[in-house]
Amino acid sequence: MTSPGRKPLVVGNWKMNLSERWAVALVDDLLPRVASLTAVEIAVAPAFPCLRAVADRLAGSRVRLAAQNVHWEDKGAFTGEVSPRMLAEMGVHFVIIGHSERRVHFGETDERIERKVGAARRHGLVPILCVGEQDKERDEGRTLAVVERQLRLGLGRLQVADGAEVVIAYEPVWAIGTGRTPTPEQAQEVHRTIREQLGSMFPGGAASRIRVVYGGSATAESAPVLLGLPEVDGALVGGASLEAGIFAAIAEMAGR
Ligand code: PGA
Repeated sequence: MTSPGRKPLVVGNWKMNLSERWAVALVDDLLPRVASLTAVEIAVAPAFPCLRAVADRLAGSRVRLAAQNVHWEDKGAFTGEVSPRMLAEMGVHFVIIGHSERRVHFGETDERIERKVGAARRHGLVPILCVGEQDKERDEGRTLAVVERQLRLGLGRLQVADGAEVVIAYEPVWAIGTGRTPTPEQAQEVHRTIREQLGSMFPGGAASRIRVVYGGSATAESAPVLLGLPEVDGALVGGASLEAGIFAAIAEMAGR
């Protein structure tokens, strides 16, 4: 449940699941379903090769375009990478940074994540910084310490006071794609800690503008409880975002 002053945000992370043909079909299915949802901000994150086609389809709608990753340099000899300038030119609004799949499978470090956050900001892209603990870290009672560290290192030198926008996604790694979700108490504890930490990192009220969304097995079944928690400003949705009807239902719940 989002506090006044923060519009709920629901982002569909399509990961590496849809080729252009299917991405366009999904967006065409989604747009009429969400057209009347004005109380929630909605974004979809297709894979890089589908960004242009999805951008064309989104033109004239309120649904925002998001990317799933970005490099930290504007250009150069970085084979296989995509720069923030390229994304900005395509009309990308949000960029997911530091997703646990990138941290785990592609060796993404907090130091690189911080550079990516800065690079995104330089080009006017809104970073969605993902933080979250592994199963083992939770078992060892280190959840809050892990999240605090990822947040501190990931946001680094970001100046929120000057109006820079950023979104935080709390995604317990053990909940991603597993059907497991934290209890309301567990989710709330982490969201509260993130909000307090943002308050100490960005004094002067700037932190209160930052949205903190939840991600990890958000479905039509789990979303009502998770989205109803104080300090949860929306959701980053993976698997359930591949079904237009389910994703639209989650977005609708977030806007209530
Ligand atoms: P999931 O993925 O909803 O399929 O668990 C969420 C995410 O990875 O952002």
